[in-house]
Amino acid sequence: MQAPSTCNTYNYTVVRQFAIMTVVWGIVGMLVGLIIAAQLIWPELNLTPWLSYGRLRPLHTNAVIFAFGGSALFATSYYVVQRTCHVRLFGDWLASFTFWGWQAVIVLAAVTLPLGMTSGKEYAELEWPIDVLITLVWVSYAVVFFGTIAKRKTPHIYVANWFFGAFIITVAVLHLVNSAAMPVTLTKSYSAYAGVQDAMVQWWYGHNAVGFFLTAGFLGMMYYFIPKQAGRPVYSYRLSVVHFWALIFTYMWAGPHHLHYTALPDWAQSIGMIFSLVLLAPSWGGMINGIMTLSGAWYKLRTDPILKFLVVSLSFYGMSTFEGPMMSIKTVNALSHYTDWTIGHVHSGALGWVGMVTFGSLYYLIPRLYGRTEMHSMKLVTLHFWVATIGIVLYIAAMWIAGVMQGLMWRAVNPDGTLTYAFVESVKATYPYYAVRLLGGLLYFAGALIMGWNVYKTVVGQKAVDAPIPLPAGAHA
Ligand code: HEM
Ligand code: HEM
Repeated sequence: MQAPSTCNTYNYTVVRQFAIMTVVWGIVGMLVGLIIAAQLIWPELNLTPWLSYGRLRPLHTNAVIFAFGGSALFATSYYVVQRTCHVRLFGDWLASFTFWGWQAVIVLAAVTLPLGMTSGKEYAELEWPIDVLITLVWVSYAVVFFGTIAKRKTPHIYVANWFFGAFIITVAVLHLVNSAAMPVTLTKSYSAYAGVQDAMVQWWYGHNAVGFFLTAGFLGMMYYFIPKQAGRPVYSYRLSVVHFWALIFTYMWAGPHHLHYTALPDWAQSIGMIFSLVLLAPSWGGMINGIMTLSGAWYKLRTDPILKFLVVSLSFYGMSTFEGPMMSIKTVNALSHYTDWTIGHVHSGALGWVGMVTFGSLYYLIPRLYGRTEMHSMKLVTLHFWVATIGIVLYIAAMWIAGVMQGLMWRAVNPDGTLTYAFVESVKATYPYYAVRLLGGLLYFAGALIMGWNVYKTVVGQKAVDAPIPLPAGAHA
């Protein structure tokens, strides 16, 4: 039999590379999360300056968001855009460059952050030479993705691609504006902005990193993998289009909710609060659309662990996008800001939404990339689901209780106006909750290890398989 030429198969090579690295970076990033969670209980674990909490924390956030989340987004967007456009990826070598370039960014982050090289901007800590490399990779990503859309054989651009496309364009703009800096040496630069303008640009970036990196791209995943796994069309295609435009318009304005009660003008804070409240509507519209896609297929939830991952991810998406607007109300934020409540909110979005939708999508994807119909062990997929879900619940419940407790302790005053508690008393009271968080994190991490083993058993010894591209209607083989 003649081997199929690359012209009539999809480019799965780059999808496989990113999919496998998603699992690897997920394990690494969560391990660093566990270490910093342990350091908050046992400060003795700050063994050397480069293993100290202050340096490992940004390593954790960069590893889980950009290495784990980023690789998942590259893998799924490259898969989805080819499958829904019925063409091979545009520019094989450029796609390959995005893989190696992105891995280089991750390795450079893993070296420079522990060495203490940082721009000091949260979620944009990497120094300017790495920023330049990120720009090159991202522009190439845009060329590959939109090049594929441009040469599509289908008349329609499926909605998942709209979400991936918005994520790619917006992250490019955010990165270019927020990272503008004056280099002093190869490893040190100063932000182009100063004072409150710097803070506003940073949180316009920070919030939209949540909105587009941690949300829009993953919604693209949701709109492809839920209908596929459920074997049902999207509940309402019209709602998905309304969801798209409402979400991308509203997210842009919500950033100031990170700067309540700061030097930022009050009106700007209020705009941030109002747009955050409005954001509840498109977020829930999208969640409902995803969940209702299961209409007529609910029974599958009993037996299909992949669907369980995907549906539970949407439940956490709904929870965190209800909680976020509440926390953006100034009076609520007066209690929650600076406390572990924020950390609970972050991880209900990160572990519950981003993590679970990624695991579900990878369990769908990986066997298909290696010519198998399902994972090596579906029992282990079920085990992963339960271990991870229990882990999330422990993590976020502990942080909610700790956060509200801290907020209340800090604002408690005696009749004579003095503070009821010293700060250190609130730290002491938080220890038990830090222990519960560590346990939750351990469970979540154990789930990731189970996945790593299952993926290894699924792919080892298997031949990489590139699926053929369907011929256009009316054409003959
Ligand atoms: C085993 C799993 C994980 C553990 C044990 C863990 C633990 C932690 C800890 C201890 C912190 C610092 C909290 C503080 O400063 O008080 C943190 C911060 C953070 N983590 Fe995780 N994490 C895990 C997984 C993840 C994942 C999968 C993501 C994203 C996809 C994530 C995103 C973040 C973010 C964005 C922050 C910064 C939050 C902020 O600045 O408000 N984490 N994590
Ligand atoms: C309607 C949607 C959402 C709104 C309105 C919202 C709102 C908020 C608010 C008010 C804060 C606290 C700001 C502060 O006091 O400093 C916050 C923090 C945060 N949220 Fe959300 N949130 C939403 C959804 C999400 C989702 C889905 C995720 C994750 C996937 C997420 C990730 C984060 C992160 C990482 C932070 C911490 C930022 C930092 O200080 O480092 N949010 N969010």
